[in-house]
Formats: sequence, C-alpha cells, structure tokens
Amino acid sequence: MSKKIIGIFSGKGGVGKTTVASNLAVVLAKSGKKVTIVDCNLTASHLNFHFNFHLTPLTLNQVLKGEAEIEDVIYKFENLNIIPASLDPYETMGIDISKLSKVLKRHVKSQDYILLDTAPGFGKEALEIMEICDEAIIVSTPDIQAITDIIRGKRILEDSSVKVLGIVLNKVTGKKFEFTKKEVEALTDLPVLTEIPFSYKFLESLALRIPLVLYHEKSLPSLKFYKLASHITQEKIFPKLGISDKIKLLLSLKLKRI
Ligand SMILES: Nc1ncnc2c1ncn2[C@@H]1O[C@H](COP(=O)(O)OP(=O)(O)O)[C@@H](O)[C@H]1O
Ligand SMILES: [Mg+2]
Repeated sequence: MSKKIIGIFSGKGGVGKTTVASNLAVVLAKSGKKVTIVDCNLTASHLNFHFNFHLTPLTLNQVLKGEAEIEDVIYKFENLNIIPASLDPYETMGIDISKLSKVLKRHVKSQDYILLDTAPGFGKEALEIMEICDEAIIVSTPDIQAITDIIRGKRILEDSSVKVLGIVLNKVTGKKFEFTKKEVEALTDLPVLTEIPFSYKFLESLALRIPLVLYHEKSLPSLKFYKLASHITQEKIFPKLGISDKIKLLLSLKLKRI
C-alpha cells in the first residue's frame, strides 16, 4: 500500500481535527489495520486528552530534538500506536518539524496508516506536514469562517503534491443558517466525505478520555467514522449491529437525539 500517510488539516481551529483523527484511527485499528496517530500540533498538543493518558514522559518533541528514538515515544491504546507531543511550551523551542519525515521513515514501513493530527491553518507548519503526506482530509464546521478558510487555503493545497480526499463536515446541526453539504461542495470544489452531527456525546467522551467510537459505539456519529474509514481503505468497515441497535439508531434519527 502506498497511500498511507494521511494529514488531517483545517483552516480554522476547534473544528474537530483531533476528534476526527482519533476516532478514525480507532476504527481503522479495530478493523485490523496497523495504525499510528501522531500529534503534529506542537504548539497546542491535545491528542493525549482524547485517549486515557496524558503527561507522557517522552514525546515527539524529544525525537525531533534528537534526544530520543521514535520507538521510545510510541504509546499503545489497545492495538493503536499513539505518538504524543509535549504539553510543555518550552519543549517546542528549537524544534524543526521538517525533520518529521526522517524520524518517522523507519516506523512508516511497519504500518498500514499513519494519521497526522495538525495545527490549524495553512501556514508554514501545515505546509511542512503537507510535504510528507500522501493524502489529506480537511475538517470543517459548516459556517462562513471555516469554509472561507478552506477556500483561502485551497490553492496552497493544490500547489502541494498531496491528494486532498475531501472535507469532513463536523458539528452539523442542520439549522437553516448552516451551509449544506451541496453548498460546501460548490464553494470549495471539494467533495464532502461525511457529515458528522453535533453531539454532546463528543464532549462527554472527551471528558472521560474515551474516543466516541468506543464510548457511544452504536450511534449515528460513530457510524460516520466507519463510513470515513471505509472510504479511505476502500473496504467495507462497519460495527456489528443487532436488530435492537438498528431500531435504536432509527429512533434516535427520528427523534433527532444524537
Ligand atoms: N461533532 C461534534 N459535536 C460536538 N462537539 C464536538 C464534535 N466534534 C468535536 N467536538 C468538540 O469540539 C472541541 C474541539 O475539538 P477538537 O477535535 O479538539 O478540534 P481541533 O483539533 O480542530 O482543534 C472538543 O471539545 C470536541 O469534543
Ligand atoms: Mg486539535
């Protein structure tokens, strides 16, 4: 498999990149793929909080500074590999993110997918990360600011060699003032891969530090990550649903309780 390093980008912050990256990584790993997720948001690293650990002693920062080996900073969440970044702001000094490709090289060979969770924006840092990606997913909320940031950043993406798979539209409520999938596609000229509804379950799952696909496994938002994983792998990946799960899902859709 050649297309395996996937960057998760956004124009605007807080749209759900780390949430999408974490849940997608868990689904891919659950389906038997060898997956590593890397926290490339060195100035505001949050990946640890989405899993049940934080304050890891060694991080990507030490590897980029030449003070540790990549194998020293791979933490396990079941069969998923997580490479966290430091929470200490002083540890971002003197770090060159362009070294990421070199330090990851050996590890990439052993994995099916490497997901890179990035800092928001299409500035220098994002560009460096884009350089090492085979494919990119853009996460956005359906509002004017986030969509404008994508339109602004699109030329930068087009100039890089990365293949943009499309947009994950997140925190969708379906309210009239939101851009619809069709409008987002027309404005950005990119396909919307999936729409993830706004759900307080994401906030609960973050507070408990369990990715939503494990915390609220048989829910509509969870199924959206299976859809995304199926799109990426070109394989059918879905959770086992019994008849009562299906009825519950249908009712939650009808009653708009997601
Ligand atoms: N679909 C959603 N519905 C409700 N809250 C969400 C959803 N997706 C993410 N969130 C919440 O939004 C906040 C920002 O998400 P995060 O993934 O950290 O964004 P980013 O990485 O883009 O900064 C978190 O509190 C997260 O739990
Ligand atoms: Mg983030």
